Formats: sequence, C-alpha cells, structure tokens
Amino acid sequence: MADTTSTDTALGRVAVERKLITPEELQVCIQEQRALAQAGKRISLTEVMLKCGYLTRSQLQRLGGDMEDSIARKAQQIPGYQILGKLGAGAMATVFKARQLSLDRIVAIKVLPRKLGENAEFVERFYKEGRAAARLNHNNIVQAIDVGNAGEYHYFVMEYIEGKTVYDDLAAGKIYSEKDALDIVIQVARALEHAAERGFVHRDVKPKNIMLTKQNVAKLADMGLARETSDMEAAVAEAGRAYGTPYYISPEQIRGEVSIDFRADIYSLGATLYHMVTGKVPFEGSTPAAVMHKHLKEPLVPPDHIVPTLSSGLGEVIECMMAKNRDDRYASIGDLLADLQRVARGEPPLQARKKYDAKLLESLADGRETDEQVTVPSGGETTSGGVPIVWVFILAALLCLSVIVNIIFLTK
Ligand SMILES: Nc1ncnc2c1ncn2[C@@H]1O[C@H](COP(=O)(O)OP(=O)(O)OP(=O)(O)O)[C@@H](O)[C@H]1O
Ligand SMILES: [Mg+2]
Repeated sequence: MADTTSTDTALGRVAVERKLITPEELQVCIQEQRALAQAGKRISLTEVMLKCGYLTRSQLQRLGGDMEDSIARKAQQIPGYQILGKLGAGAMATVFKARQLSLDRIVAIKVLPRKLGENAEFVERFYKEGRAAARLNHNNIVQAIDVGNAGEYHYFVMEYIEGKTVYDDLAAGKIYSEKDALDIVIQVARALEHAAERGFVHRDVKPKNIMLTKQNVAKLADMGLARETSDMEAAVAEAGRAYGTPYYISPEQIRGEVSIDFRADIYSLGATLYHMVTGKVPFEGSTPAAVMHKHLKEPLVPPDHIVPTLSSGLGEVIECMMAKNRDDRYASIGDLLADLQRVARGEPPLQARKKYDAKLLESLADGRETDEQVTVPSGGETTSGGVPIVWVFILAALLCLSVIVNIIFLTK
C-alpha cells in the first residue's frame, strides 16, 4: 500500500525549497494524490510529482540522497560520538551505528527529523521520557543511554543490537512455530512488565520494534521514545502517516483516548504474536483507515482457524490479548505471563478462561446477546454457531426457570 509518509512530504518541501517546483505545483500534486486515493488508487506523493512532470526521476533521486546526506552530516556533529554508518531508517527517523568515545563502545543513535524539533511540547516529553528510560535496566529492553541535540536535530542514543528484527523474519516469509513465537513473546512480556511496574507504556509494540540477538535474546526497542501526539485527529493521521500501516495499534489508541495504559501494549503484543504464528496481520485493508476500522469493529479470525496445528490455548491467549475492550484483556502483565508460560508448557490458559467466563456471565446478566467482543475461546466444544455447548445448557436452564416462574405467577 502506498501512503504519504513523512519522508514523502519532507521531500516535497525540500523540492519547493530548492525551487524545483513551486508551492502551487506541490499543492496540485497533493490534491491529485487525494483524488486518486478517493478513487481507490493510492500512490505516493513523489510518484504523483513524477507523473505530473514537475520533477524528473534523477532530480528526485538527488533530492532523496541530499536529505539523507544532510541527516548524516548532522549526525557526524554529535559531540562525543563517531558515526560509523547507517543501520536503518523507519518512517520517522534514521538510525546510525556509532562509537561512544568516552567509553569506547558501539552504540546506536536515532536521529529524529528536524520537523519534530519544532514542537516544543514534544521536545520536552522526548527529553523527559528518554532520561527516565535510561534508568530502566532489563535484559529484554534495548538500553536507552542518552538524549541530546545537534543543532535542530534531536537524537536518542541506545544500546547497539547486532541481529535482526522480528519484522525482518516476517518480511522474508517466515511463520514462527508456536514454541519459538512464545519464547520471544514471553521475553517481550517480561520487558513490558518491568517497564509497566516503573510507569512506562511503550505504545508502539510491533515486529519492527522487537530485535533478536544472535543468541535469540529478544530486545524491545524504542522504549522511552516519546510519541508525537495524543489527540484523536493527530493520532489517526500519525497512525497512517508517520508510523506506516497501523496493523498492531490498539482500539483505544485509534480512538485517541488520553489515558493509554499497559493494556494497549498487551493488545499490540497480541497482534504481533498473531502475525508471528499465522504469517498474517490480524486485520488487513487497502488504507490505514480501513485497517483501523477493523481493529475497532471486526471480530478476529481465531489464529487456529488459519493454522490448525496451533494449540487452542494459544488462540485463547491471543483473543484475550486482543479483546477490543481493554477491560476484557489481561488485568496485568503478570497474568499474561502466567498464561503464556502455561501454554508454552502445554497446559490450558487459566486467566484467559476466567476473563472469558466473566465477560459471558456479564452479558447474560445484562440480557444482551454475545456480541463480537465476546470471542469464543478456540478451545472447548462449540455449536455450529460458535457458542460453547456448556453455555447452551445454561441458557436452556435459565429459560426453563423463567417459564416455570411465569407459570407460577400466571396461575396465582
Ligand atoms: N538499537 C539498535 N541497534 C541496532 N539496530 C537498530 C537499533 N534500533 C534500530 N535499529 C535498526 O534501525 C531500523 C530503523 O529503526 P526505527 O526505530 O527508526 O524504525 P522502525 O522501528 O524500523 O520502523 P518505524 O519507523 O515504522 O517505527 C530498525 O529497523 C533496525 O534495523
Ligand atoms: Mg523502531
């Protein structure tokens, strides 16, 4: 799916700054891109600039190269560090490998785009959260080391991890075995538990932020990296723009709720686990908005319906992690860890079943029908409609009771 990334918009801005195109021409391209998107054709802004004939491909390549060079030049000026090369770039930042001169050790430095530095509130949070994160210390968290600025660029120094990300594996078509996926997700859950106990919510758990060392130690990256926004409109824009397609975002983050807690991380970790064991993201769509709508409304296809060899216990755990309403998810990361470990040992999950039973009883008591939020545990026998047989008996018994009570009253 092609969508407007921050790099794309920045490229447009630089093209105007260099007087390669006029601001009016850029506007024409943005409008053209929107019109195409409405007609179901999503292409990047740079492609539109090419298509409209405002820029040539070689001009675009030079512009892209110049932008990278300018970030790299800035990175070279970070005092106390010697830049050794580029490690990668995400939608909102570039990561460099560097030597920290004082301690003579290799580190990774994430340099944020200049645009973020214009937002004073963001910069304040960036420093506050970055410094707090540097005090966290856990084997499954990429250690935050320092935050600082070189001119108008802000940077985040962290432990260098030699290895790959879970995303790299998924992009290469790997589907993890249940055992391997659980091994990684249990490590990430430990990292989240450590962080949550100290008041941290990650907010962006996803395969790209789980690094794996050569010894298969999982390291959660970007802990303590401030996110740009919290209000609804910006969160939605951000989810689609700066952070790529929102395959792992929780419903409450989509709704732009202010009090995001560890349960958002549980949802995103559940979506990541789902992807790891099925090879598919939980909800697909041709636009970020379509994907987000499904997170909010569409019931999850149980993972063991996609890969039948998965244990029903794993399905129950994922469904509890990904409950649309956060009250229906695990009440603590400790509870989640207990279930993940039980499933890894081949035992049924306890907490997920308790949560499921409580939710079902609540909806029965309310006289509501079970809606899509009450996902049926994939274990346990079900009727063809998907309702567990035990509940059919309970419902029948309740019905009989109410008929008897009615008869008694009517015959009085
Ligand atoms: N601490 C690190 N050690 C080694 N490599 C790293 C480290 N942190 C990030 N990287 C590499 O840099 C790449 C870019 O990281 P970054 O966090 O900017 O984006 P991302 O997480 O991949 O994607 P997104 O921008 O969508 O969040 C990563 O994919 C990874 O390959
Ligand atoms: Mg990252």
